[in-house]
Amino acid sequence: MRKKIAAGNWKMNTILDEGLKLASEVVHMAKDKSLSETTIIMSVPYTHIESVKKTIGNATNVFIAAQNCHQELSGAYTGEISAAMLQNLGVDCVVLGHSERREYYKETYAGVKAKTQIVLKHQMTPIFCCGEKLATREENAHFNLVKEQLSSSLFELDAVEFAKVIIAYEPVWAIGTGVTASDEQAQEMHHFIRDTIAKNYSDSIAKQIPILYGGSVKPANAQTLFSCPDVDGGLIGGASMDAQGFIDIAKSF
Ligand code: PGA
Repeated sequence: MRKKIAAGNWKMNTILDEGLKLASEVVHMAKDKSLSETTIIMSVPYTHIESVKKTIGNATNVFIAAQNCHQELSGAYTGEISAAMLQNLGVDCVVLGHSERREYYKETYAGVKAKTQIVLKHQMTPIFCCGEKLATREENAHFNLVKEQLSSSLFELDAVEFAKVIIAYEPVWAIGTGVTASDEQAQEMHHFIRDTIAKNYSDSIAKQIPILYGGSVKPANAQTLFSCPDVDGGLIGGASMDAQGFIDIAKSF
């Protein structure tokens, strides 16, 4: 059985007090018995990590993620945060290759690959984002693009390391737009991703990798999306900023 995962991506939102209020509400609501088998992740701004980690305390189903990290071990990279710094704070996962980073910070396949490797080396779980822009889908090139994103940044990992990765399929046209991929579109791409993994690694690895859907997931659409056989949960932006809404999504499996 693959894990069921609800991962909130807070992006550059909340000052510390607001973030701690949100985190403590999520941690409190996550104690609900119906969520004991669900993995809840909060991907918070760097400045919140240490305090949110304390708020999570010994909750067994709530985890903390960073939204990025630098690909080098350490050195003269003013303003950057290393994987070792995150590991040292007890970070569980790191979101990598988010489309906003690919777009605004020109992150390359090689850069995301290096980040994935350094995150794994520091015993954290990469949440690897992939997904196409609208124009790519309209050209019917979305499968090839996602395959290229996966193979350029992930497929050189050995099977043991690759099996630790979480994948998030986030069609760029659905992020923050209110337009969600249909269940069919999500399932079709998730199935394609799993199939691509099976071809590059093995059926058993393909079956165990969680593949999340991201892009305007809300309490109202989570249940149908999460009922797709290859959708193992969501990476949730806007709707994760409300504890009740986020927890409602986490209860949608
Ligand atoms: P959204 O963002 O849920 O606000 O569309 C998803 C994401 O960017 O991870």
